[in-house]
Amino acid sequence: MPLLDVQDLRAYYRTEMYGISRTVRAVDDVSFQLQSNEIYGVAGESSCGKTTLIKVISGTIKPPLKVEAGHVRYHFKSGEVDMATASPADMRTNVRWKEISYIMQGSMSVLNPVRRIIRTFEDIVGTHQGIPNRRAFLEQTRAHVKVLGLPPDVLDLYPHQLSGGMRQRVAIALATVFHPSLIIADEPTTALDVVVQRGVLQMIKDIQAESANTVLLVTHDLAVHANVADRVAIMYAGRIVEEAPTETIFNAPRHPYTQHLIHSLPMIGDRSSKASLGGAPPNLANPPTGCRFHPRCPHAMNRCQTEVPEMLTLGDRHRVACHLVEEAVV
Ligand SMILES: Nc1ncnc2c1ncn2[C@@H]1O[C@H](COP(=O)(O)OP(=O)(O)OP(=O)(O)O)[C@@H](O)[C@H]1O
Ligand code: SF4
Ligand SMILES: [Mg+2]
Repeated sequence: MPLLDVQDLRAYYRTEMYGISRTVRAVDDVSFQLQSNEIYGVAGESSCGKTTLIKVISGTIKPPLKVEAGHVRYHFKSGEVDMATASPADMRTNVRWKEISYIMQGSMSVLNPVRRIIRTFEDIVGTHQGIPNRRAFLEQTRAHVKVLGLPPDVLDLYPHQLSGGMRQRVAIALATVFHPSLIIADEPTTALDVVVQRGVLQMIKDIQAESANTVLLVTHDLAVHANVADRVAIMYAGRIVEEAPTETIFNAPRHPYTQHLIHSLPMIGDRSSKASLGGAPPNLANPPTGCRFHPRCPHAMNRCQTEVPEMLTLGDRHRVACHLVEEAVV
C-alpha cells in the first residue's frame, strides 16, 4: 500500500478581473504514488506547477486555487485520509504537523519575526498536543534540536539573528518535531550557497534515514535531486512527463524535456556550449494542445500537436509520457 496515492489530479486557479475570467491549469492530470521510506524528488522549470501540486497534497488550498478532479489519498499507520473528504478540524488536529509537515518555499514564513524560536516551537506543540509540563517541553525541544545538529541556544534567538542556512535548519527542526510520516520540502536549498546547501541536504537525509519517513523534495535544481532523491518526477507545464529511479533519470532519460535538462547540466572540465531550449515556457492559462512540450521539442511530430501522450510504464518504476518513446517501444 503506498503512503500517498494521487490519481488524475487537476487543480486550477480561477480568477476574475475587470469581468475577464482566467483559468490557470497549474496541475493538469497528475498521477503518482509515494512509498514509505523514500525520498521522492519533483523537478521542473519555474511555474510548471510544483508548488501548486504540494499545496493540494498538503491540504493547504486557498481560493483562487480549486481542485477540479482526481483524488489524493493517504494511508497512514493512524488511518486513511482522503483529502477530498477530510474535515478542516481533522486536518488541523490529526494530520497537519503530526502526519504531514510542509516546509514552505521561503523558510521565514513559518518563523514569527517578532518571537524567539522557542516561542514558535511552543505555538506549534501547544496547539497540537498541549504543553502540560513546560520544563519537560523545554528539555525535549533542546534535545530535538541537538539531535539534528543545531546549537541548543538557537532556540533563544530571533529569526533575524540567524543565517539563511540556520533558519532553514530551524524550519526543518520544526517540521520534524512530531516525527511525521511525510515531510514536504519546497525549494529548501534555493538561495543558499553551495556549502550551506550541502549541510541542509545532509540534515534532510539524516532525518529520513533515522525516522524512515517519506520526504517529498521539490526543487528545480537537478543537482540536489542527484544527491538526495531515490526517485525523481519531472514536471512540465502542469504535468508529470517522466518519473524514474534517480539513476535512470540521470543515466537513461527518455523524455526529450528530461534529456534536455540532463544534457544542459554543467560538468566539470566540459567546455562545450550547451544548446538552450528554443521558445518560451508555456502559458498555463492557454497551454499548447496535445503534448504541451511540442512547440519546443526537437522531435515533435504532427500527432504531438493534437494528441496528449499517455503515460507509459517502461519497467523498473520508469514512466514516461511521449509519443516518440511510445513508437519506439511498440
Ligand atoms: N494565486 C495564484 N493565482 C493565479 N495563478 C497562480 C497563483 N499562484 C500560482 N499561479 C500560477 O500557477 C502556475 C504554477 O505556479 P507554481 O507556483 O505552482 O509553480 P512552481 O513550479 O512552484 O514555480 P517556482 O519554481 O517558480 O516556484 C504559474 O503559472 C503561476 O503563475
Ligand atoms: S510527445 Fe512529441 S512533442 Fe512531446 S516530447 Fe514526445 S516527441 Fe516531443
Ligand atoms: Mg514553487
